[in-house]
Amino acid sequence: MSRTPLVVGNWKMNGSLGAVASWAASFRALCEEAAPGCETGLCVPSVYVQPLAALFSGERALPGFGPGAETVSDREEPGAFTGEVSAAMLRDAGACWCIVGHSERRTLFGETDEVVARKVAAAHAAGLRPILCVGETLEEREAGKTRRTVLRQLDAVLGAAGISALAGGAVAYEPLWAIGTGKAAGAEDIKPVHAVIRSALTQADRTIGEGIRILYGGSVKPANAAGILSLPNVDGALVGGASLDAGNFYRICTAR
Ligand code: PGA
Repeated sequence: MSRTPLVVGNWKMNGSLGAVASWAASFRALCEEAAPGCETGLCVPSVYVQPLAALFSGERALPGFGPGAETVSDREEPGAFTGEVSAAMLRDAGACWCIVGHSERRTLFGETDEVVARKVAAAHAAGLRPILCVGETLEEREAGKTRRTVLRQLDAVLGAAGISALAGGAVAYEPLWAIGTGKAAGAEDIKPVHAVIRSALTQADRTIGEGIRILYGGSVKPANAAGILSLPNVDGALVGGASLDAGNFYRICTAR
C-alpha cells in the first residue's frame, strides 16, 4: 500500500510571533518554487497556532501543509480546567495536527499511557489528526525492552481510544536517546521497531492499520533524512530542532 509521506516539525517551547511569520514566508517561498512532494505540518506552542494558521488559510493555503499543536487537553467538555487548551479550541484556532504523548510530556509532565490515550481520543473527537509518539529510554533499550515499551504505549491507545482515533493521524517512533542528541537512531534500530508498530496496527484493523503513517523522530536533519526516509515502513519524520529553520525543514521534506 502506498502512503503519502508526512514530515512534521515540532518547535517545542521555542519561537515567537516574528519567528512564525518569517518561517511561514520562507517555507512558502521554497514550496512555491518546488512543491515538496509530501504532506507537511508544523506543530507550534498553542499561542502560535492561530497566527500560524492565519498565514496559511483561505487564499494563502499551501497544498498539503497543515498547522498543528504540540499537545492537547484530555478534557473534552469546556469547564473549570484552568490553563488547559481543548482539542475543539485548537481546531477553532486552525490546527489540523496535534502531537500527543511526546516523550517530553511523558517524562517531564507526568503523562501516563492512560492520559495519552484520552488525549488521542479527545483530539480525534474534535477533528484533529493525532500524531502519537512512542519510544523507549536508553535503559529500556539496553535491557532489551524496546519492543515491550513501544507496544505497551501503542496498545494503551488502541485499547482505550480504538484504532479509528489514529486513522488520518500518525504514529511517531521516537527513541528517547536520539531526541535532541544530534545522534539519530541507525537503520538497524529503526527498521524492527517500525515493523512491530505496523504489525500491531494491522492486527487491530488491516485497512486502517495499513494507511496510518509511521514517522521516525530523533535528530532528523537534512544530512540524514534521505537515508531514514527510504527505510521500509518509515513514512515520514517528526523533526524537532531542525524544524526551527524553514530551509532545513524544507530540505528534510524534499530529501529522497
Ligand atoms: P529532535 O527532536 O529532532 O530535536 O531530536 C525530535 C522530537 O522531539 O520530536
